[in-house]
Parts: sequence; structure tokens; C-alpha cells
Amino acid sequence: MPQDQTLSAVSPALNALRSGTQTLHVALEKRLPFFSDTLDLERYKRLLGAYYGFYHELEERLQHSPWLTCGFDLQARLKTPALCRDLQALGVSIPSLELCDTLPVLHSQASVLGALYVLEGATLGGNVLRKQISERLGLDTHNGCAFLFVYGAATGQQWKAFMDFLGSVPLDAQARGEAVQAACSTFSCFEQWLERQEVLV
Ligand code: HEM
Repeated sequence: MPQDQTLSAVSPALNALRSGTQTLHVALEKRLPFFSDTLDLERYKRLLGAYYGFYHELEERLQHSPWLTCGFDLQARLKTPALCRDLQALGVSIPSLELCDTLPVLHSQASVLGALYVLEGATLGGNVLRKQISERLGLDTHNGCAFLFVYGAATGQQWKAFMDFLGSVPLDAQARGEAVQAACSTFSCFEQWLERQEVLV
């Protein structure tokens, strides 16, 4: 997980989120099958279906959260619509997919920010993953690979806007701790869900 901003250029919240989740990111990245020799179209479909079961439920919860900070345009950043487009393009029946019932507890503004950090940060590896899926399975953003490159050429810009937004919300040390806890829980819940869906390597 390269970090090219110097420590002085990032907010204390981002620093805390980065260092608090780095180990979990590395662990999950190793278990995802994107670069596995065993990844074929069927496994990719199952993987996207499992992503859907988690993202749909978490984004639904965020949309109804009273703690969603004003100034954050969640609608414009939802990833579930791209997952739906991919699943439809791949002929997967969305209503028959299982939905995740163990989600991070989001009981404060800080915890919502922690979950958003994970969902937004997860777009950063997308370009590498999209190229891999294009080479291995011949898919592009029109026929099954929209989610992995959800912001397209605007990925860097979207991440920068998110970092600026995160830095603009006043969070004291306790709130930063809550954000990190929620971000860690988001990683863990996601990994456990993917494990239960038997899509990890
Ligand atoms: C094999 C799969 C993955 C790869 C190859 C990957 C790769 C990367 C890379 C290269 C970055 C840094 C990009 C940059 O600094 O410009 C990054 C950042 C990040 N990724 Fe992943 N990632 C993967 C999966 C995930 C997943 C599944 C999640 C969470 C659901 C996630 C969450 C994050 C977060 C939160 C950051 C932001 C770190 C920061 O603060 O800079 N990643 N990832």
C-alpha cells in the first residue's frame, strides 16, 4: 500500500486511519483471488456477487445513517450501481444473491467516516485490478469490470477530494480512535464475509 503523501501533508485522521488499517489491508489483499492462477470467469462472478452482498448492505446502512456528515455526496460515490451493472452484464441473478448480515457498527460521525475511508480507499487499487481482469478474462468496464474502475480516470481526483473532506471534519483524539475502530471493523467484516462466501484464496 504505497503512501506518496508526506506525513505533514495529510490530516491526523488520515494518518491514524492509514496506520491503523495497514496490516488488515495487506492481509486481505493477499487473500483476494484477483492474481490467483485459479481465477476464471465463474470464480470472478462469485467474487463480484460476494462483493455485492457486502457493499449493498453497507451502502444501504450509510444512506440511512443520521451520522452521515453534510458535505459528503454519498449518492455520487455509491459503488453498488456499478456492481449491479457488472453482475447483469455477466448474467448473474442479483435477487438470488446472499446479503451480509454482519456489518461494522456505525454509531457516530467518526465511525461513519472510518467506513467511508475503507470504501473510498478501496477504489485506489482498481486500475491494477481492472488491467488484470482485462488480461485474464477479457472483460472491460462495459461487460463486467465497471466496479473495479468505478471512478475511471477521476480516481485520483476523487481520492484527493475525499482526503480534503476528511481533513475538514474536526475530530479529536477520541473521535479519531472511533474512526480507526470502525475502519478496522469494516475490513474485518468484509474479510469474514468473503471467507464465508468461500471466494478467498
Ligand atoms: C488485491 C486487491 C487490492 C489491491 C491490489 C489494492 C491495492 C491498493 C493500492 C495500490 C493502494 C494505494 C494506492 C495509492 O497510494 O495511490 C491501495 C489503497 C487502499 N486500499 Fe487497496 N487494494 C486491494 C484491495 C482493497 C480492498 C478490498 C480494500 C477495502 C475493502 C482496500 C482498501 C484500501 C484503502 C482504504 C486504501 C487507502 C490507503 C491510504 O490511506 O492511502 N483495498 N490499495
